[in-house]
Amino acid sequence: MQEITQLLEEKRAAARLGGGQKRIDTQHSKGKLTARERLEVLFDEGTFEEWDMFVEHNCHDFGMADSRVPGDGVVTGFGTINGRTVFAFSQDFTVLGGSLSDAHARKICKIMDQAMKVGAPVIGLNDSGGARIQEGVGSLAGYAEVFQRNVLASGVIPQISMIMGPCAGGAVYSPAMTDFIFMVKDSSYMFVTGPEVVKTVTHEEVTQEDLGGAVTHTSKSGVADLAFENDIEALLYLRKFVDFLPSNNREKPPVAKTQDPASRLEMSLDTLVPPNASLPYDMRELILKITDDGDFFELQPDYAGNILIGLARMDGAPVGIVANQPMVLAGCLDIDSSRKAARFVRFCDAFNIPIVTLVDVPGFLPGTSQEYGGIIKHGAKLLYAYAEATVPKVTIITRKAYGGAYDVMSSKHLRGDVNYAWPSAEIAVMGPKGAVEIIFRQERDNPEKIEQHTEDYRAKFANPFVAGAMGYIDDVIMPHDTRRQICRDLRMLRDKKLENPWKKHGNLPL
Ligand code: HXC
Repeated sequence: MQEITQLLEEKRAAARLGGGQKRIDTQHSKGKLTARERLEVLFDEGTFEEWDMFVEHNCHDFGMADSRVPGDGVVTGFGTINGRTVFAFSQDFTVLGGSLSDAHARKICKIMDQAMKVGAPVIGLNDSGGARIQEGVGSLAGYAEVFQRNVLASGVIPQISMIMGPCAGGAVYSPAMTDFIFMVKDSSYMFVTGPEVVKTVTHEEVTQEDLGGAVTHTSKSGVADLAFENDIEALLYLRKFVDFLPSNNREKPPVAKTQDPASRLEMSLDTLVPPNASLPYDMRELILKITDDGDFFELQPDYAGNILIGLARMDGAPVGIVANQPMVLAGCLDIDSSRKAARFVRFCDAFNIPIVTLVDVPGFLPGTSQEYGGIIKHGAKLLYAYAEATVPKVTIITRKAYGGAYDVMSSKHLRGDVNYAWPSAEIAVMGPKGAVEIIFRQERDNPEKIEQHTEDYRAKFANPFVAGAMGYIDDVIMPHDTRRQICRDLRMLRDKKLENPWKKHGNLPL
């Protein structure tokens, strides 16, 4: 018995040491924490229960029989984050570069399967050189097993990927199928093929950082949702982020206590929209003024800035915010913003998070680059996402709601539950100038008449009353009253029940 206990302790010590002190020091010298240190920061103190600490790979080729480390380069298990159960895996770069073997993959699959059974989120802390090269197809099979589980878990339990080191080749496709990807600046990168291959095939010279670093993926590709300065910041924000989410698709997101009164009026909002309809204003200001304590967990802030997305709380309950941003491209919808918002709307819908939509949209962005890029299909993604969403939907039109973009942005016609307009709202097929240029084309050489027609059009449509008369707007509210109204409506909608017709699945315009 004593021998076994001693052996157990030795094995545990070996597992905890991973690839050894030298490699741990190297990891630290790159500003990175080790796999276990990361889990310590992520989970409530002392709550992480490790599984499969003694698992070893079964490869004998290329001298691998002598290269076994208990745990095989990934730490897996579960614990609590602010009291709620979460499963996680954390790849250990000090063990064979965190590379994924068949055994390593089986450990990840085991916690994913268990998370599905109990309905708890899975967080992956990725720091890996990819497929274990010595194992060949065994590791490829392992990846595919993980991919399959990512897909089955999608929409059932929240899945979050934190990229904290290399993530290259086909390995990127597991994070890509999770709900959110966060990255750490300067120490993480993701690409399908690295700089060397890029140079050989396309003759482009590009650094690892430019090709797939955190800044690239949060500002150019939109692959990642946020970039953090270092491991500690990343993991602390991750804890905060998890607090917004339900544990699974059958639960509602957790309600937090708040000191911020739901009835708070915000008088400064009455002057947020400038009198001149072509001047921009910052939609972020509206978000910060209506959400609990001005706390907005914005996602993808540096990508497709013409739309803002993120999580916040209203009256203590999590909401997803989607808002056109007049400061960027006048708030037009384009390819990137449509994709960005569509995926977020679908996430909220899958996980019972009500959606608050703030609308100031002059339409879809015109131009050949948009048309050639497939704005028709991409814009349709957002339309589809809003139309299929059955969660509570509250919409506020602050100013422009023109054309197809009016329909798309959670309009009444897409089963918006409560749709408001501010007095400054303009709801029309297009802006007065464009409309008159088309309707009165034959009078275009008569500036006086054109001016008169423009004024007439503006007087008729540059207000919320035509839509109000048709019941497409439930009420015209004063800007200062916006928070109070939304909080009341969300309370009223708490037990909303709406189901889509049975189907195997819809055919989202991918
Ligand atoms: C086995 C690996 C490994 C791998 C790294 N190591 N990657 N062992 N399989 N994939 C080992 C190294 O041999 C080294 O061992 C230790 O990990 C640390 O690696 P270093 O190279 O010293 O670290 P660094 O200089 O930081 O470079 C990191 C790296 C590099 C850029 C990730 O190691 C690298 O290029 N690795 C190969 C990446 C790769 O091609 N992977 C396959 C991708 S294809 P020692 O003993 O010296 O410490 C793929 C397909 C997936 O993943 C398909 C899914 C469908």
